[in-house]
Amino acid sequence: MLRLGVNIDHVATVRNARGSSYPDPVRAAKMAEEAGADGITAHLREDRRHILDADIDALMDHLSVPLNFEMAATDEMMAIALRHKPHAVCLVPEKREEKTTEGGLDVAREENKLAHFIAPLRDAGCRVSIFIAADRSQIEAANRIGAQVIELHTGAYCDFHAEGRFEERDAELARLTRMAGFAHSLGLEVHAGHGLTFDTVQPIAALPEVVELNIGHFLIAEAIFTGLTPAIREMRRLMDEARA
Ligand code: PXP
Repeated sequence: MLRLGVNIDHVATVRNARGSSYPDPVRAAKMAEEAGADGITAHLREDRRHILDADIDALMDHLSVPLNFEMAATDEMMAIALRHKPHAVCLVPEKREEKTTEGGLDVAREENKLAHFIAPLRDAGCRVSIFIAADRSQIEAANRIGAQVIELHTGAYCDFHAEGRFEERDAELARLTRMAGFAHSLGLEVHAGHGLTFDTVQPIAALPEVVELNIGHFLIAEAIFTGLTPAIREMRRLMDEARA
């Protein structure tokens, strides 16, 4: 079974654009649950540009499905994660100036620091995931430092598709395919996400080792036109069709 994690960050982006109390990301999360999301993902950024601390409090109180808490490997975020003990923590790189999470974590370079992060989170009962590019040395490093899960960054694959650079897209897809298999062979659980749309989801959903996709921006964008429930249902349908 391929799980769908719905990322509700950009509901908060719209809310924060006006400093209003709406749209409420928790309401979106509850709607996503009803539409078939298997989990909710939220990224509490250091600059709080979308999700706020109070949103995490409310999500922890109101969700019936697991929360995947995305965070940078900082002491501040570690304290917040240990206070809430969400089902899953996904460590992501973060740069203030970026529009979105542009690349994966350089686990190979930050091995010692990240190892110290993973141990307490695991001890607290969180499933720890690391967001990385489809790269053998990053996967090996993630495995060495005790991550249970890796999330493969599908952003480059999606960008190549959007730009019509189909040879490069197919090369990136081949790399994602090989590295999903490699990570699985090491005993890691494999997730994938970033930039996925109705047009790009199926080849990723078809990878047999991938057990979870995390999708946000496109679903929230599509919700403007069709509503959130139909957008999620269609994504779910495409995922199931690719898997079958
Ligand atoms: N997975 C991770 C680790 C992410 O950081 C993000 C973006 O916050 C996503 C998945 C979802 O990406 P998108 O919003 O482009 O669907």
